[in-house]
This record gives sequence, C-alpha cells and structure tokens, in this order.
Amino acid sequence: MNRFGEEIIMPLLTVTNIVNIVEIGAEHGTNTLKLLAYCKSKNGVLHVIDPVPQFDVDGFRQRYGEAFKMHIGFSLDALTGIKDYDAVLIDGDHNWYTVYNELKIVEENAEVRGEFPVVFVHDIAWPYGRRDLYYYPDLIPPEYRKPYAKKGMEPGRSELLESGGYNLIYNNAAFEYGDKNGVLTAVEDFLQQTSCRISFLKSMKHNGLGILMSEDMSKLFAAELNQLPVWEEEYHYGG
Ligand SMILES: C[S@@+](CC[C@H](N)C(=O)[O-])C[C@H]1O[C@@H](n2cnc3c(N)ncnc32)[C@H](O)[C@@H]1O
Repeated sequence: MNRFGEEIIMPLLTVTNIVNIVEIGAEHGTNTLKLLAYCKSKNGVLHVIDPVPQFDVDGFRQRYGEAFKMHIGFSLDALTGIKDYDAVLIDGDHNWYTVYNELKIVEENAEVRGEFPVVFVHDIAWPYGRRDLYYYPDLIPPEYRKPYAKKGMEPGRSELLESGGYNLIYNNAAFEYGDKNGVLTAVEDFLQQTSCRISFLKSMKHNGLGILMSEDMSKLFAAELNQLPVWEEEYHYGG
C-alpha cells in the first residue's frame, strides 16, 4: 500500500479534502506517518487498526496528539466501533473472509452516514488477488478457511512450491482461484451484492490497488481521477 502513497493515495485524499481516515494494517507505520502528517495539518483524525503495530505507538501519540487514534486489535472488531470517517485503507489480513467483512462493515456505516467512503484495497493483484493469506488462521471460520501452508508461490502456478518461492514465511492458501479465495474475489463479491452505487478503479502494479468510491464522487472528481497515472480498468456497480 505504502508504494501508492505519493502517486495515488495522498493526491486523492488532498483533492477530495478527506481528513478523517481509517488505516487497517500499519506494520512499520511507513504509510501511517504520511497519513498522520496530512491529517494533523488538516485538523483531521487517523484511526489505525493493527494487532501488532511495529512502530513506537507512544512516540506517535506524543507527536501527533489528537490526530492519531490507535486501535490495537483486529479489523473486524475495531472497525465496528469507528463511525466518523470518509476514507479507509485496507491492508490487514489478506483473505476473502476478512476483506469481504471489512467491506460489509464499511457499507453498514455508509448507509447511516449517507455516502460510501473512498476505500483503498491493497493486494488485488498477484499473489493475493485470487489466493488467501492468513495472518491469524484461527480467526477465520473453518468454512471460509482454505487449506494452507507456510510455503512459497510463483506466478502462474496454483500449487505452493515445495521449496523457495515468494512469501514462503506466510500461511498461504494451498491453491489459487475458486470460490471465496483472495482479496480481489472478496471485493468483486461485495460489489456484486451491494446496493450502494460504487465505482471501482484498479491498478495492477505493486501487487495491485483497488479504489472503491461512490459513483457521485467519481463523477464529481472525474477530471482529477483521470490525472492519476494508474487506472487500467473502471467499473460501476450497485444501485
Ligand atoms: C502488509 S502489512 C501492512 C503494510 C502497511 N499498510 C504499509 O503500507 O506499509 C499487514 C499488517 O496487517 C496487520 N494485520 C493482520 N491481520 C489484521 C487484522 N485482522 N486486522 C488489522 N490488521 C491486521 C499485520 O499485523 C501487519 O502489520
């Protein structure tokens, strides 16, 4: 997600004047720092959700004060308690069950607030677009959890490799594609079912970034969106 910061995320937040933001999955806080500098300068608030943030949370609190709200926990628990936001960055547990349900929580809140927020979803391309990864397998109900192993992957091959390969330290689903498998599948399943009118923009570089936003907003900012050097495809869903 971090690699899209300068090119897409910050320009889009700036042009839409969105200042209340949720970041799911912060890891070392690289993207978090960019978002915090922005939110503080605009009197906004950044909510960060991560069960094991790998940065100095107290140091961030001291530096960013009221602009920084840390939620140490899992997205599906913490997100239900956050109501006041206009953008969400999804980059936590990269599996169908988690991403689909994060989007359902966002949709529920949007129905109360009256507008679907801008939602950035990382990892819609290989390797996790069509394959689940489980940071916390025990949190996924068994009926949604694929067989998995700490084994590596290579593009164009569904089975995991016996040795070597990409991301071999993670719990990767044993096969690619199929029902309810992967981040892009979760986004597409959500979009097929939602009654909100949503535009979906995709860039497949850097492991893939999807952006969901209300169709009204995508029309309002059509010229600015066209300036961003990323869109490979655009779809309209819902309503
Ligand atoms: C790929 S890293 C995030 C990278 C970060 N967004 C960036 O751009 O630098 C994924 C992070 O998600 C966190 N995570 C895993 N499962 C999560 C969950 N269910 N809810 C929230 N965060 C989660 C992990 O602890 C890890 O820090």
